[in-house]
Amino acid sequence: MHHNTKVIPAGAYVGYPTIMTPQQLEAMREYAQRDPKAFWLEQADRIHWHRKPTQAFTGSFEGDVSIRWFEDGQLNASVSCIDRHLTDRADQVALISHREGRQDVEKITYATLHDRVCQLANALKHLGVEKGQRVAICLPMVPEAAIAMLACARIGAVHVVLFGGFSAEGIAERLVDSGAVLVITANAASRGAKMVPFKETMDKALEKSKGSHKVHSMLVVHTSSETVSMQSGRDHDFHTYVKEFGTEFTPVIMDAEDPFFMLYTSGSTGKPKAIVHTCGGYLVWASYTMGMVYTHKPGDVLWCTADVAWITGHTSVLYGPLANGGTTMISDSLPNYPVPGRWWDLIDQCKVTMFFTAPTAVRALMAEGDDVVKRRDLSTLRLLGVAGEPTSPDGWEWYHDVVGKGRCPVADTWWQTETAGIMLGPIPGVQTLKPGSASTPLPGLSMSLIDQNGAVIEGEGEGGLFINASWPGQARTIWGDHERFRQTYFTMSPGRYFSGDAAQRDADGYYWLMGRMDDVINIAGHRLGTAEVEDALAEDHRIAESAAVGVAHGLKGQGLAVFVIVRKDAADEVTEKEVSQLIVSKIGRYAAPEAVYFVPDLPRTRSGKIVRRLLRKIAEGQTENLGDLSSLNDMSVVDMLYERVMGQKAFEQK
Ligand code: PRX
Repeated sequence: MHHNTKVIPAGAYVGYPTIMTPQQLEAMREYAQRDPKAFWLEQADRIHWHRKPTQAFTGSFEGDVSIRWFEDGQLNASVSCIDRHLTDRADQVALISHREGRQDVEKITYATLHDRVCQLANALKHLGVEKGQRVAICLPMVPEAAIAMLACARIGAVHVVLFGGFSAEGIAERLVDSGAVLVITANAASRGAKMVPFKETMDKALEKSKGSHKVHSMLVVHTSSETVSMQSGRDHDFHTYVKEFGTEFTPVIMDAEDPFFMLYTSGSTGKPKAIVHTCGGYLVWASYTMGMVYTHKPGDVLWCTADVAWITGHTSVLYGPLANGGTTMISDSLPNYPVPGRWWDLIDQCKVTMFFTAPTAVRALMAEGDDVVKRRDLSTLRLLGVAGEPTSPDGWEWYHDVVGKGRCPVADTWWQTETAGIMLGPIPGVQTLKPGSASTPLPGLSMSLIDQNGAVIEGEGEGGLFINASWPGQARTIWGDHERFRQTYFTMSPGRYFSGDAAQRDADGYYWLMGRMDDVINIAGHRLGTAEVEDALAEDHRIAESAAVGVAHGLKGQGLAVFVIVRKDAADEVTEKEVSQLIVSKIGRYAAPEAVYFVPDLPRTRSGKIVRRLLRKIAEGQTENLGDLSSLNDMSVVDMLYERVMGQKAFEQK
């Protein structure tokens, strides 16, 4: 293993408000292992229960796979996030909202949040939304996004937040699959200098899925003066509609295992899948993980830049901070618009103390040079964090030394939509940090690395990353397809959850993530299944076959390269632009390929399987360490592919 050997002892952060001593952390790990039931029931006490649970985990990774936590408990998540703070911090700011182009930020106190959430809950009820029904939310980073999620929680509806970057087809597919009855969206949203037409895309999605979707109503937040067509009877202006309703709403009592929300993510096969999380376990996990790593003290402002449509937007932006009584910030800004270093200005302006972003953003910010950072104060910061992709030791050190001036621990946290919260990450100020490593499992978690032969690796080594036992925030199922859930996560090593990632573990037990082992690529933090791309291309009858792979990309981490075999009898030529447009229209803008190669054939094994590992290397122009090629059916294909790829690269450089 070749790791960065730099180590930063916890004591380097003088005056850091640590939550425990290293000895207490060890004792906590030991206790969680010795008496998991007592440990998790204690953690469950972090949130407010209508009826406290007496059970912890009741379920099994075996057989049909059933995951249940705190089963006899009852709660409403919005009470933990709002009502219980009204006694001692009603006037504390819960949410700071920054909108690009506006001078002032909006500060929403817990008391105001309560009123706005209840008003919307009343409106949703009035529109006929019932407990257990799905509500789709497709909004930019505006306060209404948080309010909408909490209002769903309050009435027991299951929110499905959809990314504004999905195409109309992508949205249509998800509306149909989830059976959403109501949509909350925006007229449009600015993204830097661009306007993204949310409502128009939603209208197209509903039109495309006519007869298959169940949406009867739409609330439209007008975030700007942009006018959009409103269908009478179906569409309502959010604010005009909602303001008529009262500011009290008695929370609907949910069983711990009632579905809380679902979130679509990509897997290695087939269509995007909706990961289902449930009320009790999810909220405990959000509170626990954010409480261990992002500890809110009075006066703290956490800014996690994640879009609300990702799991980080749920757990780190909303539910974790609010369950812990903190102040959380949202902003629709871009890191470098209208000026380089825009985010640093916002940190100063809003006195952000904890800043959490994606490695791709760190790379983009780093590319602007140190001066951009040095011109800002940034003295309010005490903690920095990243999640979503591997962070290189270089990027980590830049973030730590230049942004944090060596004063702020950097928490690289590894987690997934399926894990709901942080799994690997340091307890800041308590644990030694290693640049480029996601540190160690949080107390209560047990992980294994497993080699190609299925053997568990002890001590140092590299293998697939598995989790040995359930945790409260674990995904319960895939919506409508429990068998796919079982197959995807529990068959690789029976009795364990498979993450899909490969990792190394060093002699100190620190984990170093190596990327996905399956056919999922990570473009600037967006998960994309290569099968989704290939399915999209299969719809063009001129295309006989295609293969999509992830290739290294300086800013995005990974970019998409596609190899396309055009049918010999195709009526007309297929262009690179058409291929790109097809992918964008089926999936979304974020999936636009970096390179399209038209080829007569692909490397295959004798049984006909495409050898993707090799394709990836070819697409990256790597000519060494190609691995074992003995299973290839026809070696000459490899030379041909290199010629095409290199030829095209040389052509593009001209
Ligand atoms: O490959 C891992 C990568 O992102 C995947 C999960 O993506 P998503 O479901 O969108 O959830 C993101 C939640 C932060 C993982 O399977 N990943 C996530 N965090 C890290 C990471 N890779 C390396 N280091 C990380 N810290």
